[in-house]
Amino acid sequence: MSPEPSLASGSLEGQRVVVIGGSSGIGLATARLARAAGADVTIAGRSEDRLREAQRALGECDTAALDISDEAAVGALFAELPRVDHVVISAGTLGPGAIVANDMETLRRIVDQRLWGAVNVVRAAAPKMRSGSITFTSGGIVARPRVGGAMFTAALAAVEALPRALALELAPVRVNTVTPGVVDTPLQHTGDDWQARLDARAGALPAGRVGAAEDIAQVMLMLMTNGYLTGEVIHVDGGGRFV
Ligand SMILES: NC(=O)c1ccc[n+]([C@@H]2O[C@H](COP(=O)([O-])OP(=O)(O)OC[C@H]3O[C@@H](n4cnc5c(N)ncnc54)[C@H](OP(=O)(O)O)[C@@H]3O)[C@@H](O)[C@H]2O)c1
Repeated sequence: MSPEPSLASGSLEGQRVVVIGGSSGIGLATARLARAAGADVTIAGRSEDRLREAQRALGECDTAALDISDEAAVGALFAELPRVDHVVISAGTLGPGAIVANDMETLRRIVDQRLWGAVNVVRAAAPKMRSGSITFTSGGIVARPRVGGAMFTAALAAVEALPRALALELAPVRVNTVTPGVVDTPLQHTGDDWQARLDARAGALPAGRVGAAEDIAQVMLMLMTNGYLTGEVIHVDGGGRFV
């Protein structure tokens, strides 16, 4: 098989991009940029309402309502696609993750969604791909743990380890992980003080601001179009892991 070239044009014309978690935030911004680059886009998420709203915002795209931890549903999505070129997994929620204070069901759900969910997608998508890319999303909590988040730290550390092994197992399909810092998306809009929290973090960052979903989406697009990038973890955090 001939190696995949880097696309200097950045064009994804005629290519199928699937974004799991594409109905909001980073995934929605990635779907928007992929559409603008000419791709045919499928977005997936749990809420049909959120998917419909995202579809209206994007214009033309296909949608699939599913939970990433549901192996059969993920399998069915990819089974019906005639072609898959790039897959982005940005599905994820936050919640309690302390190891001792939570029951095993809560902890298993985190691993089901973050690690087994990613594995579900790889197992369903990779057999349909002849080249292209798969990109996972991790989080700053791997390098900078916070009290109450240990299960997320562990599950996402595994998601950062996957590309190193999968870049070999799935070649020539390229596999990478993007690790965002604090990004202003609906995920962060919890509690009455979310704006103050974002402002405080912005002031501490070398970049002088928190991220926008588009900051991360641009890197997702770069990973689709640069045929020489594989097995990498790319931090897009405004310098946040140093402060
Ligand atoms: N925003 C940040 O500051 C930040 C920082 C570091 C890492 N991240 C990571 O980046 C990723 C994207 O976050 P975001 O900020 O874009 O969040 P967001 O705006 O809340 O979007 C999350 C997306 O994932 C979907 N989703 C959530 N759980 C799912 C599941 N079990 N199965 C399928 N889809 C699911 C959501 O739709 P439904 O709810 O309808 O399923 C939504 O489309 C997440 O993995 C997050 O942990 C974010």
